[in-house]
Order: sequence, then structure tokens, then C-alpha cells
Amino acid sequence: MRDYGTPYHAPVLCHTVADRLITDREGFYVDATLGGGGHTHALFDALGPEARVAGIDRDPEALEIAAERLRLAGYAGRFMPLSGRFADMETLLLGAGAGRVSGILMDLGVSSHQLDVGQRGFSHRLDGPLDMRMDQTRGVSAAEFLDEMSEVDLARVLRTWGEEPMARRMARAILRGRPYRSTTGLADVIREEVPPHKVSKSLARVFQALRIAVNGEIDELRSALEAATRLVVPGGRLAVISYHSLEDRPVKRYLRSGHFDGDVRRDLYGNAMSPWRDLTRRAIVADEEETATNPRARSARLRVAERTTYEPAPPTNQTMTEY
Ligand SMILES: C[S@@+](CC[C@H](N)C(=O)[O-])C[C@H]1O[C@@H](n2cnc3c(N)ncnc32)[C@H](O)[C@@H]1O
Repeated sequence: MRDYGTPYHAPVLCHTVADRLITDREGFYVDATLGGGGHTHALFDALGPEARVAGIDRDPEALEIAAERLRLAGYAGRFMPLSGRFADMETLLLGAGAGRVSGILMDLGVSSHQLDVGQRGFSHRLDGPLDMRMDQTRGVSAAEFLDEMSEVDLARVLRTWGEEPMARRMARAILRGRPYRSTTGLADVIREEVPPHKVSKSLARVFQALRIAVNGEIDELRSALEAATRLVVPGGRLAVISYHSLEDRPVKRYLRSGHFDGDVRRDLYGNAMSPWRDLTRRAIVADEEETATNPRARSARLRVAERTTYEPAPPTNQTMTEY
């Protein structure tokens, strides 16, 4: 089977995604997290000659790399690169003259390239500016974010998005060390705060929490799931790959019920009133062969749902997740 990995990124579950997402071989699909274009490439290889794919990424570098790869593979004429956030996918697609779609893929989080380049500031292992923005042309960096935080707010971020058990104590220590300009500067403060056997988990938790907060990742995800409900045609599918429980939980609940509380509403006859029929009650995981060659695949959870004919009420002005 073809390996769609490149030095930029090794995508997970490529063949399974193409297999489960495609319901119309000549349809129009959206890869909402284009990255290095591995999944899009796999989709094109599995699709028919009339099919088209729009690829969204908020990281301009990813769009450039993926567009070139797909051009070399001969798919440029049927590929539509869209720069922006996937929460805005309806507007992005509308702007490009596209309407409803056959299926949407979301492969959450950051790419290996984003993690592997110190200048992006995502990794505590590499020295670089404490940035962590997927789109470095917008928003505030993690360093600026910390500059503005109170101890209470930072503790809430660490607890909510990092599941850090010593959130308040860690927040206090981090704020004492301000201002931060480098990833290693922050990592040193965390290292001093916890016993050696807890260091690597604490580093991972704090960096994850800051990354999620700086990029608004969970709000993005929730908005994108709702947008997918409006965009995918009945019978079409939504596939989401998540890498930790904070992502997987809302995905699982939403795909089961069309609500973030996960409760399936039923009509008088007991029929589920949900825009999605979950096709994966248990998430699909990578097999041993894939996890042996791609460590990132170990935490990947793929969920797939099919759009039903049920039309939910138009959105009310729901409040965003608070942290
Ligand atoms: C795990 S990588 C995707 C890799 C891709 N599936 C491949 O085959 O190479 C996630 C990508 O999604 C992008 N991304 C994450 N959140 C996003 C958002 N809210 N809007 C747009 N792009 C986003 C990141 O910049 C990153 O390039």
C-alpha cells in the first residue's frame, strides 16, 4: 500500500480515511486540515477523474507545500487551496464558489513540520521563540498571551486544556518567570517546579494547554463540526482524527447526537433526531504496523459519521467554551 508520508508530515490512517470518507467517487470533498497534503493526495488517488478537493489550512506554509505536492501529482486542476481557519469553512467555500459537499475530513492538531521547526515555538525540546501560532501572521503568540494572563486565568487554562493537576502552583511559577521569549526559557521554569520523574508530563501538559489556548483549538473544532452539519449533503460523511481526549470527547458526542452534550434527542416514535449517524461507535485506531513506523499514529482516533436527512434548528448564539 502506498505511503503518503513526506519529510513534512507523516499522515495517519490514510487508506482507511479514503475508504470510509468517500461515498461519491466524483464528488466534492473538503480536507479541512490540509497540512502536507498527504490525506488529500490519498483522496485524489481513490477518487474518480471528475472529483474535486478543497484543502483548508491556516498555516500559509502548509498550503504552499501541499499545493506543490498535488501539482506534481497531477491534481492541481481539481484542487482548491483555501487559506484560513476551518471554523470559517462555509465562508471560505462560498468565496470560492462552492456549495454543499460530499464529505469533510479533519485531522486535528499540528503537523510534524510545525513541531519540528524550533522557530514555530511548539516544541519544548527545541529552542525558539515562544510563539505556537499555526498562523504566524495573526493573533498573539504564546509569549504575548502569558504577558497578559492573571494567575487565576492561567491556572484555568492549564487545568482545562492541559489537565494539569497542579495548575495553580504551576501558573504562579510560570508567571513569576515572565517575560518569556523562548520555548526553553519556559521549559526551564517548568523543570524547576516539579520533581525529575514528572518533568516530561508537565512539559507536555503546559505546552499543550498553551497551544490549544493560543490557537483557540477547541472553539475552532466545535464551530467546524457545526459548519460540517450545514455543508455535508445527506448520505455524505464527516471523518475526524483526534489525538487527545479534549478533542475526541466533543467529536464523539457531536457525531453521536448533533449536540455537544452527547444526548440523542428522539421524536415521539423513538427515532433519533440527529444530523449524524455515527459509523464508529468505537474509534478506529492505527494497526501495529503503522504505529511501529509512525509514533504519532499511536494516539490517533478516527471517527466517521454519515449525514442523515434530519435538519437541526438554525443555530442560536451559543456561547463559546470558556476557560
Ligand atoms: C495534523 S496536521 C494535518 C496533516 C494532513 N492531514 C496531512 O496529510 O499532511 C493539521 C493541520 O491543520 C492545520 N490546522 C489546525 N487547526 C486548524 C484550523 N482551526 N483551521 C485551519 N487549519 C488548521 C494545521 O496548521 C496543520 O497544518
